[in-house]
Amino acid sequence: MRTQVCIIGGGPSGLLLAQLLHRAGIDTVVLERRDRAYVLSRIRAGVLEWGTVGMLDAAGVGERMHREGFVHGGTLLSARNRAIRIDFEALVGTRVMVYGQTEVTHDLYDARDAMGGVVIDEAEGVTLHGLPDAPFVTYTKDGTEHRIDCDYIAGCDGFHGVSRAALPASLLKTFEKVYPFGWLGVLSETPPVSHELIYANHERGFALCSMRNANLSRYYLQVPLTDRVEQWSDTAFWDELRRRIPHEAADTLVTGPAIEKSIAPLRSFVAEPMRWGRLFLVGDAAHIVPPTGAKGLNLAVSDVHYLSQALIARYRDGTEDLVEAYSDRALARVWKAIRFSWWMTTLLHRFPDQTEFDQHIQNSEIAYLEHSSAARTVLAENYVGLPY
Ligand code: APR
Ligand code: PHB
Repeated sequence: MRTQVCIIGGGPSGLLLAQLLHRAGIDTVVLERRDRAYVLSRIRAGVLEWGTVGMLDAAGVGERMHREGFVHGGTLLSARNRAIRIDFEALVGTRVMVYGQTEVTHDLYDARDAMGGVVIDEAEGVTLHGLPDAPFVTYTKDGTEHRIDCDYIAGCDGFHGVSRAALPASLLKTFEKVYPFGWLGVLSETPPVSHELIYANHERGFALCSMRNANLSRYYLQVPLTDRVEQWSDTAFWDELRRRIPHEAADTLVTGPAIEKSIAPLRSFVAEPMRWGRLFLVGDAAHIVPPTGAKGLNLAVSDVHYLSQALIARYRDGTEDLVEAYSDRALARVWKAIRFSWWMTTLLHRFPDQTEFDQHIQNSEIAYLEHSSAARTVLAENYVGLPY
């Protein structure tokens, strides 16, 4: 088989890239290791920057998002029972869209099907060859080996994929910070406790109140990495959440059975460069952020923005400069989001080795946010997403 761009990974990065390239007349094949039911059942974060909304619109997949998503003009930060509103609209004139990544992926698959695009799922043993200049990809499906010849490979295969490992060790540089706690997440068929998200700093640990729709809530608690999901009964979860959020919210919290419960570790990770010849790294394949700033999916989308621009210019005008600039352009934005996610994480969590000095710094940072619109503007500008 031959295609112009072979895309490894059928997550949001790979599918969005495929959709934008297709609309520009560029042929793609998507190779996905898992089956579709698995890909569509993964529960991930749910806040889209306005730039992400624009990208989904440009890909022609925004219709259901605009119908079912919730536009939020601000968010709440709480500490010691006081809530600080970060008014995105007043501070930076933009809003965000609350719409689950699971739904985004669903819409992308529907669009890919509608245009008859190729997604080869359950592709085993995907291997990259001929890099950096003459790429081709092999994989096994139903016991038979196949080969795809292509001009470019887009490595959209997430943190555990094979693409990043295809870069020579002498070229690849990685940067990592692992945080000493995890997030216990619960999804429940209950009305959200607040019409905006609540990010809660509390002496017992961080908590987050989020949502998917009018009768589907998503809540998180900071927990030690040694905790197991089985240790957390639904009752224990709700009791702990009530302790960490403002009293007013705790008093009106509607609880119910958890329909999903899981613990995820938190890390920051960056791999450089994001291009080696005709191979590009996109999304989680190149970087991971802790979920505190809701940047994971949004960063993947900004990578897709830079890469789709570069490939469209290459095929339309024969120019290579944006292809060559891809890694630098993407990384400049990635590092700013890495910084912001680290800052939000540091601001809101309790660290096991936190000293009294550290605690004073955290408290005064929160007090500064409460009293300075300049400080709130910095938060808002980063949260709604820096320009591409
Ligand atoms: N061969 C083929 N596909 C693979 C391989 C492989 N060797 N390894 C992984 N994949 C697939 C995974 O099964 C998955 O469907 O690549 C896909 C990668 O998808 P994601 O992990 O969702 O990554 P990405 O598309 O970059 O999405 C952005 O940022 O912070 C996160 O939650 C956010 O998942 C979102 C991500
Ligand atoms: C979510 O809704 O799952 C969510 C929202 C905001 C975050 C992280 C996760 O910062």
